[in-house]
Amino acid sequence: MQRLNGKRALITGAARGIGLEFARAYLAEGARVAIGDINIDAARKAAQGLGDGAIAVRLDVTDQALIDACVAQVEDAFGGIDILINNAALFTAAPIVEITRADYDRIFAVNVSGTLFMMQAVARGMIDRGQGGKIINMASQAGRRGEALVAVYCASKAAVISLTQSAGLNLIAHGINVNAIAPGVVDGEHWDGVDAFFAKYENKAPGQKKKEVGAAVPFGRMGTAADLTGMAIFLASSEADYIVAQTYNVDGGQWMS
Ligand SMILES: NC(=O)c1ccc[n+]([C@@H]2O[C@H](COP(=O)([O-])OP(=O)(O)OC[C@H]3O[C@@H](n4cnc5c(N)ncnc54)[C@H](O)[C@@H]3O)[C@@H](O)[C@H]2O)c1
Repeated sequence: MQRLNGKRALITGAARGIGLEFARAYLAEGARVAIGDINIDAARKAAQGLGDGAIAVRLDVTDQALIDACVAQVEDAFGGIDILINNAALFTAAPIVEITRADYDRIFAVNVSGTLFMMQAVARGMIDRGQGGKIINMASQAGRRGEALVAVYCASKAAVISLTQSAGLNLIAHGINVNAIAPGVVDGEHWDGVDAFFAKYENKAPGQKKKEVGAAVPFGRMGTAADLTGMAIFLASSEADYIVAQTYNVDGGQWMS
């Protein structure tokens, strides 16, 4: 049985990585999926690779006009949006005394404002159509506690957990469930970038940090995007109707809450 049969999903930042794996998993469960990404060439290539039921849409979650245009385009193409995954995000790392205001503004614009104003734009349509919906925000174990070199990203993901709580409490009145997934360390291009930051600040050989974080996961290895798809399907399905404003750890045992 396909658990998302006939559902219409918009996934931000789905041109690669975790978002792309979610798109693949949703299609397999019977949904149509719009890949919204700032990298439109990669989004188009991804949609072509996924085949029928996938479309690519230009989106910069820091630009309100592009948010509105993207949501309108997906609503036109699919007739509505039942599921939104706020997955687009940027990472940065630096010691406190080296953090720049420009870097802070850039990370918060994508990870925090982007999440809030995407929820707002999609929820308006969901409320108008009166059939509820599901919104899933990508948080992180980084949102559960600070890290010495990762202040800005950690704070942005803590904000995503808080926004999930407030939006969840507000939008459930309209039958819209807002919940979040907090992954741990997930291998892929994103973590190649994280590894490079640690190589610089902790004087490690390239690839060393990845080995260390993988070995430290209670499960025994880094996660993969595929490790997260079960939770993403579940939270988008009717089985999660009674789940409101929660953030679920899918991290191989890294964090307990
Ligand atoms: N990889 C991990 O270890 C990990 C761990 C915890 C949480 N997460 C979270 O999971 C989500 C996906 O992570 P990933 O590893 O697949 O990341 P990724 O860097 O591989 O992919 C991010 C995507 O977002 C897009 N994007 C960036 N800025 C954008 C913007 N302004 N508008 C629209 N799209 C934009 C990029 O083009 C890219 O396709 C993120 O929210 C991330 O913070 C990842």
